[in-house]
Amino acid sequence: MSRHDRFAKHSLAPRTILITGASGGVGAALAQFYASPGQTLYLWGRNNARLEAIAKICREQGAQAIPRIVDLCDAPAALAAFRETEKETALDLVILGAGVSDIRAADEKTEFPEIVLDTAMVNYATPMTLATEAARHMVKRGYGAIGLIGSVAAFHDLPFATAYSSSKAGLTRFATALHASLKPHGVSVTIAAPGYIDTAMSRRLEGARPFLVSPEKAAFLIASAIAHKKTVVIFPKLFAFLKLVDALTPRRWAHALLRCVKVKQKPLAES
Ligand SMILES: NC(=O)c1ccc[n+]([C@@H]2O[C@H](COP(=O)([O-])OP(=O)(O)OC[C@H]3O[C@@H](n4cnc5c(N)ncnc54)[C@H](OP(=O)(O)O)[C@@H]3O)[C@@H](O)[C@H]2O)c1
Repeated sequence: MSRHDRFAKHSLAPRTILITGASGGVGAALAQFYASPGQTLYLWGRNNARLEAIAKICREQGAQAIPRIVDLCDAPAALAAFRETEKETALDLVILGAGVSDIRAADEKTEFPEIVLDTAMVNYATPMTLATEAARHMVKRGYGAIGLIGSVAAFHDLPFATAYSSSKAGLTRFATALHASLKPHGVSVTIAAPGYIDTAMSRRLEGARPFLVSPEKAAFLIASAIAHKKTVVIFPKLFAFLKLVDALTPRRWAHALLRCVKVKQKPLAES
């Protein structure tokens, strides 16, 4: 294990961690990354079988793992569950990783309002609410870390994923603003902006997934960024360059180019 790896895993090692999206690809990989003796992991998701399976792996690695079914579309219920957990244990690290994505079908001209609402809740409104609650406790204690998972989609006006790209853009601005607000109080906020990760979410896409990274590599990069108290981590690095190119391109040209991008997604039932 390199010096960098040791730092990410052990230096400033949080003892109590809450992870949303722990039943999914990246969340489960993060749970496994942190699971070790002496650590307590609160693992949130909706799919009981997958949550129990990841909790079992974490216990085998020596951690205490407490799975909980929480639907992030119901923000007040999620906030109540978070407050209950905080009453039980002071959380050192909160990783809000759950997310949903949707691509408009080629034969549709708009996205569906119900899906847009779910996307707003899961990707933006509820993580923002929970991060704010986490911050209130951490600020009182004078330490703590909050990790959020955005996407490189946040950096582009994606015509075929308006809800997804804008929810991640909102989350990114929230995270960087919260970091600015909390740094003087000893609390760090990190947002990850990944490209393609090999999980159920990206496996729904039809076609190429360039610069694909494994969920384990993504978990390592996210945990490293949190340990180093970075504000933003973009991976793979090429996407940071594309962000810059997009920002420098006149909107009219960028939009014309982005309208030419054809992305298709399998329906949830088939994936
Ligand atoms: N995969 C990629 O290529 C990629 C790229 C950029 C960013 N990301 C981001 O990375 C994060 C993790 O995604 P992933 O790739 O691990 O996808 P995933 O395997 O599909 O996992 C998504 C997770 O979110 C949870 N979730 C979805 N809706 C929820 C809801 N209403 N309430 C509670 N939990 C809910 C899922 O829980 P259940 O399964 O239990 O319902 C699951 O644990 C997401 O924020 C995603 O936007 C992914």
